[in-house]
Amino acid sequence: MSKFWSSTVRKTKPYVPGEQPNEADVIKLNTNENPYPPSPKAVEAMRSVIGDDLRKYPNPTVDSLRKVIADREEVKPENVFVGNGSDEVLAFAFQAFFETNEAIRFPEITYSFYPVYAKLYDIPYQTVPLKNDFTIDVDGMCNSIGGVIFPNPNAPTGVALKLNEIEKIIQCNSNQVVIVDEAYVAFGAESAVPLIKKYPNVLITRTLSKSHALAGIRLGYAIGSTSLIEGLERIKNSFNSYTINRVTLAGAEAALQDDEYYDEMISRVTDTREWTTHQLEDLGFDVLPSQANFLFVSPSKVTAQELYESLKREKIYVRYFENLEDYIRISIGTENEMKDFVEKVRHIIESIKI
Ligand SMILES: Cc1ncc(COP(=O)(O)O)c(C=O)c1O
Repeated sequence: MSKFWSSTVRKTKPYVPGEQPNEADVIKLNTNENPYPPSPKAVEAMRSVIGDDLRKYPNPTVDSLRKVIADREEVKPENVFVGNGSDEVLAFAFQAFFETNEAIRFPEITYSFYPVYAKLYDIPYQTVPLKNDFTIDVDGMCNSIGGVIFPNPNAPTGVALKLNEIEKIIQCNSNQVVIVDEAYVAFGAESAVPLIKKYPNVLITRTLSKSHALAGIRLGYAIGSTSLIEGLERIKNSFNSYTINRVTLAGAEAALQDDEYYDEMISRVTDTREWTTHQLEDLGFDVLPSQANFLFVSPSKVTAQELYESLKREKIYVRYFENLEDYIRISIGTENEMKDFVEKVRHIIESIKI
């Protein structure tokens, strides 16, 4: 605490990101990054813009990338907003659509950045417990006073809702904005983008950080009715006109046009997810059915914290959340990384039995 801090800084509770160890030989399964490299076409596109033009500001309205996204999603460019990672898009959306005197709702177990934004912007919130099977309670999300936000699939559980359940949440909050955070949708869940044509109150957010292996360039976007997109633009243009740099713009455009590369890579990740699920179930773990690039598991024979710490000693990083003490979250790595991981887990469990 410093006497120079504003009251805003004093009341913040900043998000704590997963560890980013510096050692080279670790297996990093803790921040849901993609274990495979980005599309070579995206890398080449980024290289090709590193030159004299970097002296100029980038296009503030991101026209070309918005057109690429709009064509893919079968919407108009006016339905697309682009931000510096989906975290930035979410932060703008909290400011643009939620009020300081109307409680918003989100699931009790969910992406831990939502309460951080709510505190930063003084937005009250209510959390809705998950059902016993760890699915989001659709009825509990209805009739919010201030709006709703949830990821689909949810994080850190990986469990997804069906499109008709999402539609129900949108319908039963028709006077509020419903944000569906689709950070992980490409790994198997149904997208709610088609619903933006029917409902003016739904905003979908996406990121290139997970499915497109581009966490390092920070590119996220939102799709929604033109009035919601205009609201986001007004906040962005009151904050920073040039949020997306030239290199990121070039990489994102090329990546979003290389489906052949990404379809193959995403199936490798989902195949490895299914393989890892079976291996851990054989070891007696409780593994939630995941539609994402990570697994949320409750170990057998060891506590989640013991397993997290033992794996870390073996240079394997997974995510342990102190408030979810029976579970750890494991991002899906390459086939070889997951083989190593399963072997180490087996070894840790066996050594504890002795
Ligand atoms: C549910 C969810 N939403 C959004 C994000 C933010 O992604 P980014 O800011 O990299 O686009 C994450 C990142 O872990 C996430 O788990």
